[in-house]
Amino acid sequence: MAEKKFFLTTPIFYPNANLHLGHAYTTVLSDIVVRYHRLQKERVYFLTGADENTQKIVIAAREAGKPPQKFLDARVEGFKKLFADLNISYNQFIRTSDKEVHWPGAQKLWQKLAEAGDIYKKEYEGLYCVGHEAFLTSKELINGKCPEHGTSPERIKEENYFFRLSKYTSEIKKRIEFGELRVIPETRKNEILSLLEEGLQDVSFSRPKTASSIGIPVPDDDSQVMYVWCDALSNYITALGYGRDEKLFAEFWPADVHVIGKDILRFHAAIWPGMLLSAGLPLPKTLFVHGFITSGGKKMSKTLGNVIDPTELLQEYGTDAVRYYLARHVSPFEDGDITHEGFKSIYNGDLANGLGNLASRVMTLAQTHLPGPVKVEFVPYPKEFTDALEKFEVNRATDYVWGRIGELDKKITETEPFKLIKTDPEKGKSLISDLVRELAAVDLLLEPILPGTSKKIIEAIIANKKPENLFPRKE
Ligand code: MSP
Repeated sequence: MAEKKFFLTTPIFYPNANLHLGHAYTTVLSDIVVRYHRLQKERVYFLTGADENTQKIVIAAREAGKPPQKFLDARVEGFKKLFADLNISYNQFIRTSDKEVHWPGAQKLWQKLAEAGDIYKKEYEGLYCVGHEAFLTSKELINGKCPEHGTSPERIKEENYFFRLSKYTSEIKKRIEFGELRVIPETRKNEILSLLEEGLQDVSFSRPKTASSIGIPVPDDDSQVMYVWCDALSNYITALGYGRDEKLFAEFWPADVHVIGKDILRFHAAIWPGMLLSAGLPLPKTLFVHGFITSGGKKMSKTLGNVIDPTELLQEYGTDAVRYYLARHVSPFEDGDITHEGFKSIYNGDLANGLGNLASRVMTLAQTHLPGPVKVEFVPYPKEFTDALEKFEVNRATDYVWGRIGELDKKITETEPFKLIKTDPEKGKSLISDLVRELAAVDLLLEPILPGTSKKIIEAIIANKKPENLFPRKE
């Protein structure tokens, strides 16, 4: 049988600001799932990128006193550096400013929608929130302001192209209801179904081109540029060569999973399926929707000043400490809070005293008392662990690993190998060899979650040597 393929995407990130820990969460969660699928010997494609044709960039670049493209390049370098520091194993980083990679496919998709009769011109008046990159209704405002961004939306009256999304309401609803397009978790599925119940409105899909606007020209009408969400969503197929060289597209589309945060569910569960249906393309199989990371009980935001910068945590604690925290101590389904104090206490408890100490205890015993390295074999992943990862529940998978770490610690305490080796050297050695094998089995489970640490531990086992201090205690 041909090996299974697995195509996973993250959202593409707005480069108007630096990425914070919430953005890092989406990406780390995705990376763990992807690494797990690679270890299952599947053919994996992991896509991430930057969403660049947005009005936010024009504003941010102007504030920084830089030309937009220069500004974007620097920000995207920063994103890539952060992803390297987080050990993110993406196959491709797409940039929607890339005229060769992205634009031809975005324009081809537009043409497909037009050919289907789903694009029409209309005079439109509405309240546009740049933070959302979307029109808001007056019902959504509080005291005339967008409650999320705290800004007054712009009243815009202009002629736009519209996408006939309303036409696809019942088809999208059916696909979601019957699980052909799975929305996980159930609460998000219900949320989108009730929205579909009300019926979808057609959406404005272009903006008039102005001197300062950036964006993909609408095919056959240079006076308009594509609406940023129409442009951004198409990245999932343009990255695979749609409209350009469709080999990867044929191999990997439809996506096995789009990982997204709860705030962009509507775009992915309504507009995107609508576009694909209109173009006659298969729908993604799964939308995995996670909650928000909050700080001190509030949504992280620049205005509130409670943004946690992943770079700071990485410098202080290292790659795998940040991956560990995000993997285990943030629930993928609910909002999760993080503070600097909480991070430190978890680091000391679970990593310095937990995993780090265990690896050091076992390997000190092995190095001192065994004549050479213990031969370790591949142990298949237990069902509890694979089940959790198949469902994207990386926190549960990581709980399982730490359960095993606790058991191994307990076994050392109870069997006292450092005493046994004196009273009965043969039995003592055999016990220590068992402990090394169990450490190796735990280490294998760590591979998708903490790949760097996992590598150091297996190298120590192979060399029969105590590893370097993996997680130095922080006072
Ligand atoms: N550019 C759009 C996505 C286009 S996808 C075709 C966008 N970008 S974003 O940079 O604002 O957000 C990217 C992702 O980060 C989203 O999934 C969003 O939910 C997630 N997060 C932003 N803040 C977050 C937290 N505080 N916590 C967890 N994830 C959050 O939206």
